[in-house]
Amino acid sequence: MEEPQVSTRQLLGVLWTHAKKRKGMMFLIIFFVIFAQLGDIVHPYIYKLFIDGISKNHFSLVPETLIHQLFIYILALVGISFFSWICWRFSAVLASYFVPLTITELCRSMALALFAHSVRFYQNNFSGSLVKRIFRIGDAFDDLFGALVWNISGLVIALLGSFIVLYLREPMIALVLFVGTLIMVFLHFFYSRWKMKYDILMAEADSKSAGEFSDMITNFENIKLFTGVQHEKGRLKKVQGAWSAMAIKTWQLSEIADAAQAGIVIIVEFVLLYTALHYWRIGVLTVGDFALIQGYFMTIISKTWSLGRVIRNIYRAIANGKESAGILLMMPEIRDVKGAKPLKISQAQIVFEKVRFGYQKGQTVLKKYSMTFKAGKRYALVGPSGSGKSTIGKVLLRLFDLQSGHILIDGQDIKKVTLESLRSSISVVPQDPVLFHRTLMENIRYGNRDTTDEEVIEAAKKARCHEFIENLSDGYETYVGERGIKLSGGERQRVAIARAILKNAPILVLDEATSSLDSESESLIQEALGELMKGKTTIVIAHRLSTIMKMDQIVVMEQGKVVDVGSHKQLLRKKKSLYRKLWEIQAGGFIGG
Ligand SMILES: Nc1ncnc2c1ncn2[C@@H]1O[C@H](COP(=O)(O)OP(=O)(O)O)[C@@H](O)[C@H]1O
Ligand SMILES: [Mg+2]
Repeated sequence: MEEPQVSTRQLLGVLWTHAKKRKGMMFLIIFFVIFAQLGDIVHPYIYKLFIDGISKNHFSLVPETLIHQLFIYILALVGISFFSWICWRFSAVLASYFVPLTITELCRSMALALFAHSVRFYQNNFSGSLVKRIFRIGDAFDDLFGALVWNISGLVIALLGSFIVLYLREPMIALVLFVGTLIMVFLHFFYSRWKMKYDILMAEADSKSAGEFSDMITNFENIKLFTGVQHEKGRLKKVQGAWSAMAIKTWQLSEIADAAQAGIVIIVEFVLLYTALHYWRIGVLTVGDFALIQGYFMTIISKTWSLGRVIRNIYRAIANGKESAGILLMMPEIRDVKGAKPLKISQAQIVFEKVRFGYQKGQTVLKKYSMTFKAGKRYALVGPSGSGKSTIGKVLLRLFDLQSGHILIDGQDIKKVTLESLRSSISVVPQDPVLFHRTLMENIRYGNRDTTDEEVIEAAKKARCHEFIENLSDGYETYVGERGIKLSGGERQRVAIARAILKNAPILVLDEATSSLDSESESLIQEALGELMKGKTTIVIAHRLSTIMKMDQIVVMEQGKVVDVGSHKQLLRKKKSLYRKLWEIQAGGFIGG
């Protein structure tokens, strides 16, 4: 399933649903910002009155009343600045709550949406890129809110306010300033829009290099084992090269806009002063008006000066936000059907009915796979590597949907029951279990998060991992490293078994580790498994003869089909069976992955 293209409207919708939880706060921020910026309009006007006042009289002839008047202007100037100052402070304090809290909510929604996505989604996305995308939507909100509330609103207020005030003094002046500003605004707007495609490419280059780095870090062991540093250096050079080429291009394109803007400012200033001079000569404008015009011109220039950057930030925020929001807006590929009911387990019998499945279009991994796993019995799946054994576990858990056919548990189609009830009815011990970088106590308790420490330790004892855990420096409080890297494969598998014991689900799927464990680990794991399988419908993807012999039935698979079912003895009796062949090739241990 492809991720949908997110429209700007959809992105704004997503941001708004998160922002509106603190609507009151948001509107108060905007309110204070508008009032703070009104000061920018009133301040130069009072300045004008002040200068007109002084310039009318030679200072030796100043009457007391005028001094008094001028003093009031000064007080008004200070008062307005103070009022703006208060408004800014209020808005900033409110924003210091509003923005981080909203970003937190956005990131949380992103994470929750991410967990709902299918295994296929994770296989198609680098974890490093996903992490980046989670945070990007927060940044996008921060940038957009900042740009609109602090920058764009200020420009609009300054532009309209100064236009009105100047228009009342002399329409021509107002027009010159207004038209000049509009030219700059439109230039930035269209240029930034045109440049957006490069910003998107830049964001993609960013994600790509982050993904590459994280893949390398995940594979640090391979890099060491295969002495791949030089090779990785070459790859990095390529990826980073593509990134820096894009960064240089976008930077230079921004520079062009800045240069054009600076040129326009010079022209507008010239026309403005020239026009003002004319109106002063014919007695329409006063000296104070020059202060007024200068004040407005400076305010507007300072606000348009950053406009290019602001518009680019807005576009970039939108592009980044869209890239992220796909995770939120995309329907999870595997989800509950409408009216899904919880799975009701009576005996835990599993039936595969003509199951056809492939991971990708055109691929067939399971073909007409039909098999009944009877309640409470133990089954071993055996067959050559790639015959689809592990896949059986994956489709049973509905990590992937079938192309056709059905899987029934106690007569209920797994596609029509809730995912949560399905997955909580099945315990899985994967071939190569991954653990959280959390304590062993937490990792085992993940099987059933309502259990006490004593119950966790009890399960660990049954899984034969208590002893090795006790020998660790921090015992059950030991951190196991990312993905559980600080434990051996056998230890990790026993932790996974302890977890499955705690979960105590009626169905058990076990993918036996292929890596040859030392005989001690192996016998410990065998003991642990014995505990775990008691009274459960068990499917073991088995490689070891010791495991296979203990099972009630052996299901022999080849190229996604069941070719034989029977007990070890029955299957060996058949002269030309695949089972016999596999057994003869490697008596004492089966091949396959
Ligand atoms: N995530 C996947 N995407 C595409 N193909 C896959 C995936 N996982 C497994 N396969 C393919 O499906 C086939 C069966 O795999 P699997 O069930 O793991 O085999 P087995 O466990 O019997 O060795 C193999 O050909 C394998 O390459
Ligand atoms: Mg396998």
